[in-house]
Amino acid sequence: MLRLLLSALAVAPFVLASPHASRWNDFKVKHAWVGVPTDWVLHDEPALDATIDLRLAMKPEDDTAIIDALYEVSDPSHPRYGAHLSKAEVAALVAPHQNTVDEISAWLDHHGIPASSVSPALNGDWLSLTAVPVEKANAMLGTKYGLYRHVGTNETVLRCTEYSLPETLHDHIKVVAPTTYFGTTRAMRATSFLQPNAATLDDGDNALQAEIAALQTTGNLTSLATVPSSCGSTITPSCLRALYSTSAYTPAATSKNILGIAGYLEEFANTADLKTFLTKFRSDATSATFTTVEVNGGQNNQNDPGVEANLDIQYAEGISFPTPNIYYSTGGSPPFIADQNTPTNTNEPYLDWLDFILAQSTIPQTISTSYGDDEQTVPLDYATEVCNLFAQLGAQGTSILFSSGDSGVGPGSCQSNNGSRAEAFIPNFPASCPFVTSVGGTTRVNPEVAASLSSGGFSNYFARPSYQDTAVTTFLTKFGTTKFAGLFNRTGRGFPDVAAQAENFQVIVGGRTENVAGTSCASPTFAAVISLLNDFLISQGKSPLGFLNPFLYSTGVSGLTDITSGSNPGCGTTGFTAGSGWDPVTGLGTPNFVALQSLVS
Ligand SMILES: *[C@@H]1O[C@H](CO)[C@@H](O)[C@H](O)[C@H]1NC(C)=O
Ligand SMILES: *[C@@H]1O[C@H](CO)[C@@H](O)[C@H](O)[C@H]1NC(C)=O
Ligand SMILES: *[C@@H]1O[C@H](CO)[C@@H](O)[C@H](O)[C@H]1NC(C)=O
Ligand SMILES: *[C@@H]1O[C@H](CO)[C@@H](O)[C@H](O)[C@H]1NC(C)=O
Repeated sequence: MLRLLLSALAVAPFVLASPHASRWNDFKVKHAWVGVPTDWVLHDEPALDATIDLRLAMKPEDDTAIIDALYEVSDPSHPRYGAHLSKAEVAALVAPHQNTVDEISAWLDHHGIPASSVSPALNGDWLSLTAVPVEKANAMLGTKYGLYRHVGTNETVLRCTEYSLPETLHDHIKVVAPTTYFGTTRAMRATSFLQPNAATLDDGDNALQAEIAALQTTGNLTSLATVPSSCGSTITPSCLRALYSTSAYTPAATSKNILGIAGYLEEFANTADLKTFLTKFRSDATSATFTTVEVNGGQNNQNDPGVEANLDIQYAEGISFPTPNIYYSTGGSPPFIADQNTPTNTNEPYLDWLDFILAQSTIPQTISTSYGDDEQTVPLDYATEVCNLFAQLGAQGTSILFSSGDSGVGPGSCQSNNGSRAEAFIPNFPASCPFVTSVGGTTRVNPEVAASLSSGGFSNYFARPSYQDTAVTTFLTKFGTTKFAGLFNRTGRGFPDVAAQAENFQVIVGGRTENVAGTSCASPTFAAVISLLNDFLISQGKSPLGFLNPFLYSTGVSGLTDITSGSNPGCGTTGFTAGSGWDPVTGLGTPNFVALQSLVS
């Protein structure tokens, strides 16, 4: 053994001294998986003339400036609270140092990348390199791109299982994509599913709507503290408007306030189904329409209504009407790494959507996304940069909500994909990003309890942010140190932040009433309540809420209903239990619009 090691050492100086060596060949691994991700196989070599579009994130001159600014404008106790940044102000804060630009330019020159194929992307902190020959990309990144095939869908993607950068560039480039984050355009994981054996309200819920309308007329909403018991088995907008006390509020800033829904997976929101839905479940809102915006080749096929898309838009409209809603249909090749628990390909092209939305002159004040995946299947460098882009959106004044996931503390047997195969709870990304608001699930009424599907736990990628220090430490202290020891990361960001109903949603799909469950139900519901709050603030000439978490954790349960029973089993365990205060099942609780409205007044 020793002799082998010595002979290896003896050879090394010769390699380093080779006349072809230069700082651009002095590679250091940037990210590597232990093997080809589960359910992917190397299918073929790329064609000789194949090209690839690359994007790379440059290190900002001041790495923490944008996060510091985000916290200042999002913290109700800070003098800059609500003073959201313009796109130009964000771009200035994330701008790279001139040395970074020079180093990267020299590297691109060395590889003969023409200036004409290089352009700024996102908020100017990324570079986009178009049509780079794959052979050249291999040389730049010390890697070998291959055409990988997903064994479930047969889709192929151009990816590598590891990539490197010259040592000197590690200080300047934070991530290169696409590299080790595999993806396909189909079969990603939306956080909703049909409950085919559950009850459906095929004839609508006229009696419930009438009851609520009458209460609105008399101005007496006291009785809504007790929600009709039918809401315990079938959820409609009337149930949610009563439960979360939005039914008496009439939006007044509809020329300025917008609610956005980010969609992926070739999921199309159907206009005829929305009309049917509103006729059955919100008869005062049948004039509601929404705009579909096609992003990165995403389409709008009205012959192919999606359960996820219809759920999102029907409940967003059903609660926020007459607030304008936008549905983003995002196409493109999503990056993805499969693990043991995601046998089918389930990630989405966040970067393409972010690149689009950050370039808009008007960005919705509230955006809900009901997609997510196992954190461990997203490379850390990629997840970190995507999370930072959500921070940039938040700094510009947008509230970003994500469903927390539908698999409790984790799906299946919960093996780590880092080579150890150690058992551990599996957190979800982007729900684990500290700069988004993660929404878990509840069910039943009088009282609401945690839905067992509600994903929650602790990130292995992102440390606990200070805004949730008190809430999460209080939970951990009560929880103790012995239960589930080693299965979750006590220093990680705890999620979800909040919760909303997540089962028995009545959704129209292709003209039929379906019963749908998942935290996909919860995210647009919570987002719609936030959108109404933003409407209220904007109509008073105030700033919208922007990044919500510092506000939510500082006001705690006073604007919410604390959920104190139920649990989120998974990974062969009973999971965490909902209790008083924050917990990793339902977060701080479900919204109470009237209480939140008085908190922001
Ligand atoms: C994938 O390809 C194999 C072999 O050609 C075929 O048997 C299988 O049906 C294909 N699967 C899908 C989902 O198209
Ligand atoms: C409002 O409703 C509650 C509960 O139904 C009832 O007790 C109360 O008398 C009502 N108040 C008015 C002013 O109608
Ligand atoms: C792999 O993941 C497990 C579970 O999160 C962790 O305990 C272990 O330290 C990790 N091993 C390595 C080599 O990173
Ligand atoms: C636990 O979380 C911290 C961030 O708070 C991270 O640095 C560390 O690597 C995580 N540990 C494991 C085993 O994943």
